[in-house]
Amino acid sequence: MTAHMSAADKAKYFAARQAATYVKSGMKVGLGTGSTAEWLVKCLGEMVRDEGLQIQGVPTSERTGALARQVGIKVITLDAAQRLDITIDGTDEYDPDLCLIKGGGGAHLREKIVAAASDRMVVIADESKTVDTLGAFPLPVEVIPFGMRTTEALIAAALVDLDVAARDITLRMAGDAPYVSDEGNHIFDLHLKRIGDARKLSQALNQIPGVVENGLFIDICKVIVVGHDNGRVTVT
Ligand code: 5RP
Repeated sequence: MTAHMSAADKAKYFAARQAATYVKSGMKVGLGTGSTAEWLVKCLGEMVRDEGLQIQGVPTSERTGALARQVGIKVITLDAAQRLDITIDGTDEYDPDLCLIKGGGGAHLREKIVAAASDRMVVIADESKTVDTLGAFPLPVEVIPFGMRTTEALIAAALVDLDVAARDITLRMAGDAPYVSDEGNHIFDLHLKRIGDARKLSQALNQIPGVVENGLFIDICKVIVVGHDNGRVTVT
């Protein structure tokens, strides 16, 4: 299975394969988005096909939903599920307190809604995602299209108020046009280099009218499963 994979893909696959063992028949499962989460969906698909695993999946993006259906996972809406047993998702960064930056794949809004509706959020990653302090990865902030430049100015002002030193803001693009999320919104990426007080920043951003959700996940993730390309897996 892993013979022709890159080292990074092997690490992601081993993390996903380990986390898939937490999923049992009868569970309602939040399915994350991104290249690591895709391995998870494929592993669960194999378990459905080969081991008779019976689960209902709630995807965090249209593309994860398409993959889940393709590999034979029964897909339901979050409202049909109401409460989930577990969500397994990737991350862009995680710190020693298991706080995360997510949204590199543009799905952090649905990902946070689904994770918050879950008894347990398990993150799968390779070791490149670990940081001492969040912020090297640009922080995604999803905004509604209406008045988005006004929202951007309010975000910039909030960063000044919080004394954030590095505060470049870029509009995420998809080719020549602004990127559009599954919810029809746009994303500003905040290049902060270092986030001193993630909780305070998250609260300040989410208070701005026009901001839908930021990519900071604080006190949401309970377990991180880190894969290594030699097959070793560490669980924190
Ligand atoms: C998508 C996400 C992803 O989980 C995050 O970007 C990690 O992706 P990958 O597993 O491809 O590195 O938050 O919005």
